[in-house]
Amino acid sequence: MKINLLYTVRFCILCTLISFGLMITSHASANDKTFVGSESCMDCHKNEYSNFSNYTKKAHSYDSIRVMQPKLTEAEFKSCFECHTTGYGQPGGFVSESETPALKNAGCEVCHGPGSLHIESQDPEDIKTTLSIEDCNRCHSEERVNAFDFKPLLFGGAH
Ligand code: HEC
Ligand code: HEC
Ligand code: HEC
Ligand code: HEC
Repeated sequence: MKINLLYTVRFCILCTLISFGLMITSHASANDKTFVGSESCMDCHKNEYSNFSNYTKKAHSYDSIRVMQPKLTEAEFKSCFECHTTGYGQPGGFVSESETPALKNAGCEVCHGPGSLHIESQDPEDIKTTLSIEDCNRCHSEERVNAFDFKPLLFGGAH
């Protein structure tokens, strides 16, 4: 009797631990933000979307690398993706033009971060808003564009 009770108690503790563990994992996956592409932002942010699409080079950054593709090896071409596409090498990011066409250019999310959670919640807390020069440096690196003057341009290339 005594032993049975002990087993029951242990079993219950184990169950609690397992279900708690499951709760944590499912919570984490719900919070994993993925990339959705600039067009997903269009309906709710018409002005930003149209300024971005009409006036920035980022909105066509895949064309810039594609015209050079014939002169490049496959590996060289892939090395362009990091800056000329959205989220390359990150979960849910650009893979290839045919598999992830919505992410082929450097879109809204290269600055604002992955938008999946925000497009569901519409909560400003779920999207990155405060940007610094470091966010630009990732691609506008010094050796690449040594004379590029970032500060006055923090709002450039955006909308
Ligand atoms: C279904 C509607 C909807 C979609 C889709 C949407 N947003 Fe929003 N967004 C909102 C609302 C609502 C707000 C808060 C009110 C406001 O500032 O306009 C907001 C605010 C923002 C803000 C400002 C946050 C702040 O602190 O003021 C940014 C940046 C933003 N969205 C970026 C994006 C990006 C990038 C996308 C696409 C990945 C996107 N949004 C898609 C509804 C949406
Ligand atoms: C994921 C990489 C990436 C990030 C992050 C990034 N950029 Fe860019 N940006 C590019 C690429 C690539 C181009 C060139 C596109 C082309 O011409 O093909 C560009 C072009 C520009 C231009 C040229 C003018 C134009 O019409 O677009 C400006 C200005 C600019 N970016 C500003 C910024 C600023 C400011 C930030 C930070 C807030 C930033 N960028 C973050 C990749 C990036
Ligand atoms: C580290 C980030 C980064 C990588 C990697 C990168 N680029 Fe760029 N590229 C940029 C930025 C930032 C700009 C825009 C600023 C400037 O004019 O330098 C740009 C501009 C360009 C432009 C000029 C477009 C125009 O309208 O003038 C071309 C063409 C280009 N890149 C091709 C390539 C190719 C091809 C590759 C791969 C071999 C590549 N880039 C890799 C960041 C990058
Ligand atoms: C080159 C980086 C960059 C890109 C690309 C970019 N944004 Fe922004 N965005 C910014 C910056 C910087 C701010 C100003 C944040 C602040 O107020 O400090 C901003 C602000 C916003 C805001 C808040 C309202 C406002 O205008 O101040 C919204 C909404 C927004 N962006 C949506 C978008 C959408 C949608 C796209 C794509 C169509 C996009 N952004 C592409 C950098 C970018």
